[in-house]
This record gives sequence, structure tokens and C-alpha cells, in this order.
Amino acid sequence: MSETTYTKIHGAPKADLHVHLEGTISPELMYGLAQRNHVDIPFDSPQAIASAYEFRDLNAFLQVYYAGLRVLENQQDFYDITMDYLKRAHAENTHYIEFYTSPQSHIERGVPLAQVLDGIFAGCDDAYSKWGIKANVIFGLQRHRTEASALAAIAQAEPHSSRIIALGLGGPERDNPPSRFVRAFERARELGWRTTAHAGEEGPADYVSQAIELLRVDRIDHGVAAQQNARLVIALAARRIPLTVCPVSNVKLKVFDKLEHHNARYLLESGCVITINTDDPSYFLANLTDNLYQTSRALDLSDDQIFQIIWNGFDGAFCDDASKRRMQQALNEYWHG
Ligand code: ADE
Ligand code: ZN
Repeated sequence: MSETTYTKIHGAPKADLHVHLEGTISPELMYGLAQRNHVDIPFDSPQAIASAYEFRDLNAFLQVYYAGLRVLENQQDFYDITMDYLKRAHAENTHYIEFYTSPQSHIERGVPLAQVLDGIFAGCDDAYSKWGIKANVIFGLQRHRTEASALAAIAQAEPHSSRIIALGLGGPERDNPPSRFVRAFERARELGWRTTAHAGEEGPADYVSQAIELLRVDRIDHGVAAQQNARLVIALAARRIPLTVCPVSNVKLKVFDKLEHHNARYLLESGCVITINTDDPSYFLANLTDNLYQTSRALDLSDDQIFQIIWNGFDGAFCDDASKRRMQQALNEYWHG
């Protein structure tokens, strides 16, 4: 059994590269915003919201996630959800976050994109001044929509382009292959954005290959299905393409039946750049420390392997190199000091 304690992982400087802002909404905040904005939700208390969190698979979860995000209506709401999460992340010593957001879900409800982004950016700025935690924003396309919708959303984001760190792709994976979004990812590169895509979460290894070869992504979100193709695992390792793995999410959404059967250790020992992340922490009831600790116990990871995974979180980040090195130095001093 791994000897590394919860307290040691909790105190370590960490990065979360795969967290959906709309998946951080606590039952309390969801309930409060529903009341503030007069949005109908089928729950009469925060406890009732929390007790509804049981999911059959990714699609069943996304129904709940897309319903929950309807309580977010204006700039203040986006500011509040950002600050609320960054405060909690800072409390577990997360130093760096890349927030996925789902702008098409807000645009389609008539929420101006500027309100969404300005609220999030203001939250990121204030959290940085108050607590020193740095957060960047990934513009997350939804793969069940058309590429025309993706390109229109990107066009709307252009005035804010310099503050967006990357383009991402999420949503229901089955039958929505990466190959449908080639032009959107080309546009992102023209805008100077980095790129990442969910692939191989519920979908096949071939979607991981498509994301790499056709979308030319810098990073893969999840990617656990890569194990189905040994040559792909070798390529991921050789090209050092980071995988933002979310083990607790994978169990909650039935990608693996239990954490003991997760393949994070296999991928790590195959030479892949594995990071561990939260995905939708309020829905899956696990913060970053929980994800790291539970995974290390279930897979019997060594102290060095846990260190490597946390280190990889900074390596795989889209921020500047000097910031990465500074955060890695802090991690090294904490872990080995
Ligand atoms: N959006 C929010 N969480 C997601 C997940 N786990 N997979 C795909 N899209 C998502
Ligand atoms: Zn995700």
C-alpha cells in the first residue's frame, strides 16, 4: 500500500489542468443562484441537489450538468462561481488551474459571451491578487454541436482572444468524432491558442488518434482508451503528449467499475505523461487531493510516482515556462525538502 499520506498530498503545490468551471458549482451555490435568478430547478434544497448525483454514464451526467449550468445568467454569477472554486482550490494548495468553460451552452440561452468571459477573467484576477492562485481559461467546444456553431462561437470570442489560453473539445463523445472539428482547431492555432480535446473517455482509441493526427492537439483529456492500441500508447509516450486523466470521474461515470481497475498506473509505467485532475469536482464529490490520494491508494503508487504525476501537472500546463519551473521548484522543495 502507498505510504504517502493525504496530508502530504494536500500540502503539495499542485496543478489541475482538467476542471470544468460549470462542474465546480456546489449544491449551495446552485441553489442560491437559482433563487437569485428565479431559475426553476427540480430541487427544494442544496441537500436534495447533492443526493441526485448518481450517474449511469457520461450522457446521463451531461444531462444533469447542462441543466445545472442554467442557473448561471450574468457576469456576477460567473465571477462568483470562479471565486468560489478558486478559494477552495487554494485551500488545498492548488497553485495553477486551467478552467474549461462551455460557452455554447451560455450563448444558446442568450447570455452574452462577454458577460461569461469577463466574469470569469475578473474572478481569476481577483483570486490571483488575494490568494496567489493562477487560473487560465480553455474555450471548450461541445462535440454534439456542428462545426459551424463551433466556428461562430470562436468568432465571438476573438475580442477576448488574448486572455484565452486554449481551445478544448468536450461533451458526449460516442458518435461525435474529433474529425468533425478540424477547421475549428486550425482557427484556434491562427489565434495563437493552445489546443486540447477530450478523447478516449467513453469513445475508442481511434478518437485519441484522430485528436492527435487531425486536430493536432497539444494535450489529450482523459485518453484512457488509448490502452486498446499498444502502438498509440508508445506514440503518446514518445511524443510526450500529456493525458489529463480524471480517475474519480471515470469511476463515477462507469468508465471503470472501480478505482482499483483504473489504468493510470499502466499508462504512467508505459512512459506516458500522466496528470491527475478533477473534471467536475462538485458532481463527483472529489477535489484534487482526493483524486490523487484515492488513486495512489487504489493503484498502490509509490511516493516517487505520485510526485511524478504532480510534477507532470506543471509540465503539461499551457502557461509560460518560467512559471512552470517556479511551481515545479516549489513542489520539489516541498516534497523532498
Ligand atoms: N463536460 C463536463 N464534463 C465532461 C466530461 N467528463 N466529458 C466530456 N464533457 C464534459
Ligand atoms: Zn472533462
